[in-house]
Parts: sequence; structure tokens; C-alpha cells
Amino acid sequence: MKIGPVILFGPPGAGKGTQAKRIADKFGIPQISTGDLLRENVEKGTELGQNARQIMQRGELVPDRMVCDMVAERLKGGDCERGFILDGFPRTVTQAVWLDNYLVENTVFDNANGTRAAFVLRFVVEYNALLQRLTGRRTCPTCGRIYNVHTQPPRVAEVCDLDGSRLVTRKDDQEEVIAERLKAYEAQTLPLVEYYHKRNRLLEINGDRPVDVVTAEALRAIEHGNSL
Ligand code: AP5
Repeated sequence: MKIGPVILFGPPGAGKGTQAKRIADKFGIPQISTGDLLRENVEKGTELGQNARQIMQRGELVPDRMVCDMVAERLKGGDCERGFILDGFPRTVTQAVWLDNYLVENTVFDNANGTRAAFVLRFVVEYNALLQRLTGRRTCPTCGRIYNVHTQPPRVAEVCDLDGSRLVTRKDDQEEVIAERLKAYEAQTLPLVEYYHKRNRLLEINGDRPVDVVTAEALRAIEHGNSL
């Protein structure tokens, strides 16, 4: 099945990364996470990483131009030709407009209706659940698998089930920074709901249910959304 670009949308902790990995595996297409790409740049000390590091530590959004250039570079990868999952992008109306133009001008595939527009799966999760998820999150630095000490613990505490690496806590998963990230989401990202709703490209999923249930609904929604 050919998949039009899919955007996973939702607040910090909504489950975008968790679901993106599952969907990407299922369809054999890449997960493009702007958060992961930025963290890689920070880790490697690139110019982009040096510029983004403190902004991310404060829980604010990295400037649109930097993020759009980074995404454009990633989308040139040959692995994106059959489709891709965007996780954490776009996050402002400026980014969404940029993406719409980019897809029309640059992608080589289209969806079932012959359009190149991305459609959006919005994960809706209650505020207190987000806080609990983010403070309990642990990530494998080797394979990227995401755990949660409350809801999805590894078999051995703090160790990845898949490759035995010691799990890490993200620097921005401290309560003060989480509060700033949630504020940035409300102020700068939530307006995208109206943007995509008006264009009839938004599907909502209740993300407050077990991971497998959310995945099953997301996969069904992608089959439906692919023909929007
Ligand atoms: P980014 O890395 O994108 O972080 P985020 O959007 O804040 O989202 P998270 O990764 O925190 O949450 P998630 O929705 O992926 O949830 P997850 O699946 O991990 O961005 C980080 C920073 O980079 C930003 O603050 C900004 O500075 C910058 N940035 C990134 N993109 C940008 C952009 N486009 N523009 C500008 N700046 C940008 O799940 C969370 C936890 O919940 C896990 O522990 C998981 O196990 C658990 N969980 C998941 N699903 C369930 C479930 N159904 N039930 C119970 N637990 C669950």
C-alpha cells in the first residue's frame, strides 16, 4: 500500500514517538522525528545543535527556518520516496504552510486521490496523564525504544529489553521544562488544529487508551485518511 505523508500531532507525551515507530515498522517507511533529529544535532555538536541546545533545554520551540531546513534535508533521503511519518512536525502554522508547499513542489508520490497533501492524526490525551507519562519516560539511547516506568516498564529496571543498553531520561523531561513545553504547545501548536480541520485533513484519536488499542485505531485511520 502506498502511504501519503502522515503527520502525528499532539502535545508532549501524547504518544507520537511511540506510535510513529510502530506505524513506520508496519509500512516499512521512515519515522521523521524533528525532536530526535535536533537531539542528534545537539549530541554531535553541529552548528544547528549548538543553536538549538539551550532553546530545547528551556522547552521552547526552535525557530521555524532552522527546523524547515533540517526537514527539507531529511526528506531528500531515498527512503522517503514511498511515504514517511512526521513526528513533531509541523508545530507552527508557518511550518505547516512550508510543508504544504514543499510536498506539492518536491514529492514524487501522491495519495489515492492524486493529491500530495499530508493528513494528520491528532492524539488527544488528558493533561494529568501527559504529566505522568513524561515524568515516567525512559528511552534507549541505542535503538530509540520508548518505555515508561509506570505504564510500559522494561523487564529489568532501567535496561532496554531489546539490546541491554542502560535507559536514559530526556533532559527536557523535568517538571519545570515540561510545563514550558506544554505552554509552547498551547500557544504555538494548537492553532494547527483549526488549520488542518478547515482543510478536512484532520482525524482525531483518543490517545488515552492502551498503546496497542491506539495503534490499531491509528492504522485504520491511516487507511481511511490515505483517501482524504
Ligand atoms: P519532541 O522530541 O518532538 O518532543 P514532544 O513533542 O514534546 O513530544 P514527546 O517526544 O515528549 O512526546 P511523544 O508524543 O512523542 O510521546 P512518547 O511516545 O514519547 O521535541 C523536543 C523539543 O525539540 C521541543 O520542545 C522543541 O524545543 C524542539 N522541536 C522539536 N520539533 C520541533 C519543531 N517542529 N519546531 C520547533 N521546535 C521543535 O510517549 C511519552 C511517554 O508516554 C512514554 O513513556 C511512553 O511509553 C508513554 N506512552 C505512550 N503512549 C502511551 C499510552 N497509550 N498509554 C500509556 N503510556 C503511553
